[in-house]
Amino acid sequence: MSVISIIGAQWGDEGKGRIVDYLATDADVVIRYQGGDNAGHTVVNDYGKFALHIVPSGIFNPKAISIVGVGAVVNFDTMEQELKGIPAALHKNLRIDSRAHLIMPYHCLLDGAEESKRSEHDKIGTTKRGIGPCYSDKAARTGIRAGELLNPEALKAHIEKILPKKNRELEYYGLKQFSVDELLQLCKKWKDTFGSRIVDTIPIVRQAVDAGRKIVLEGQLGIMRDLDWGIYPYTTSSNPTSGGAANVSGIAPNNIREIIGVTKAYSTSVGGGPFVAELFDEDGKKLRDIGAEYGATTGRPRRCGWLDAVALDYSSYLNGFTSIAVTRLDVLDSFEKIKVCEAYEIDGEITRYLPDTDGQERAKPIFRTFKGWQCDTTKCRRWDDLPREAQEYVRAIGEYAHCKVSYVSVGPERDQIIIL
Ligand code: GDP
Ligand code: IMO
Ligand code: MG
Repeated sequence: MSVISIIGAQWGDEGKGRIVDYLATDADVVIRYQGGDNAGHTVVNDYGKFALHIVPSGIFNPKAISIVGVGAVVNFDTMEQELKGIPAALHKNLRIDSRAHLIMPYHCLLDGAEESKRSEHDKIGTTKRGIGPCYSDKAARTGIRAGELLNPEALKAHIEKILPKKNRELEYYGLKQFSVDELLQLCKKWKDTFGSRIVDTIPIVRQAVDAGRKIVLEGQLGIMRDLDWGIYPYTTSSNPTSGGAANVSGIAPNNIREIIGVTKAYSTSVGGGPFVAELFDEDGKKLRDIGAEYGATTGRPRRCGWLDAVALDYSSYLNGFTSIAVTRLDVLDSFEKIKVCEAYEIDGEITRYLPDTDGQERAKPIFRTFKGWQCDTTKCRRWDDLPREAQEYVRAIGEYAHCKVSYVSVGPERDQIIIL
């Protein structure tokens, strides 16, 4: 049996899509288990360059079954657009679990409106993809699930019941309201396009687990924006942790054999909230310029900083990483000095323990400096090809995460990877 969970170890955009694409080349099943089209998972392979939002990053292996799982929230309009850019032969095995919730047009409008009511300091900086409002309806048990598209009579009754309250919310924000007919037409379109792919995925997943097949679980975002363990309220509305993966992939925790945390060799964050290791100087600008650190979904500039080892230690503990994949080592190639935030100073006290949001807001970073290697690593394919200083830096990252390093990525292409 080989179930591998891929987890974002930081604030998202760590390179999960790139690692999933690599691991999926010989996988039997790939499950995007939570989140929605707030994701931007970049994959670069023989088919081209793709920024995937809701389609699982295993889609480029036509032999694998790609599943959008129970914990995901689905905008079928986004999915339709996305599939147009992927050769049809590749996505014949795409399935959506009938329990996954639908992102409705009103969720997107409400997401934007709620953000606009927040003060500058309080802004979450959501992707405005309707994620929070959709998960809110799920928790309130008023959401619409994908499987309901297959039963138009019951769907009509459900929409008639929930829409008056939704329209009141929209009215409160001065937004466009919806008619039952309008939403039913949209749902019919979604059913016509995707109906045959909406299934109960448990039999597929269970059979693969029982047969010991290779299953890759693809997380969305990273632990620092986890609803429970992240920088609340500047979080998303689902759980990108390994515990969350087990909960919504339909695979019991003890059947998940590997938990790989994906971390950049430095840090980025997009959106609001504390970010202790953030740089406001030339080094921060250089990281953004060399790393082309702009959001794959929104195009927003990402906030850049040195690696935050306090957050990585927390991430590793909570997720139980069996190993980590270090990505974007090559972005550091030209730096003479590289720093790592090893501890925080909070109200005069030094700590290596990650506090909750308000503590992080007061924390100042304490850095350790490493010597840079100042040469090109993008062509390195074996550990021994890496310069000594780069090896030392990667080893140190493994020590901060208390686990082995299984992959070092030195470029966005599928083969730009060192396997340890
Ligand atoms: P995800 O959301 O975790 O899948 O990550 P994103 O796709 O949002 O952001 C990661 C970015 O880094 C993408 O543009 C990838 O193509 C790129 N990338 C991934 N690994 C590497 C690497 O090792 N080096 C470089 N230079 N780019 C990488
Ligand atoms: P991937 O999967 C980086 C951030 C947003 C915002 C907060 C909540 O590509 O790593 P949401 O739209 O989820 O309600 O926004 O989370 N955020 C991301 N940041 N990568 C992502 O996805 C993100 N998805 C959401 O900027 O601060
Ligand atoms: Mg991303």
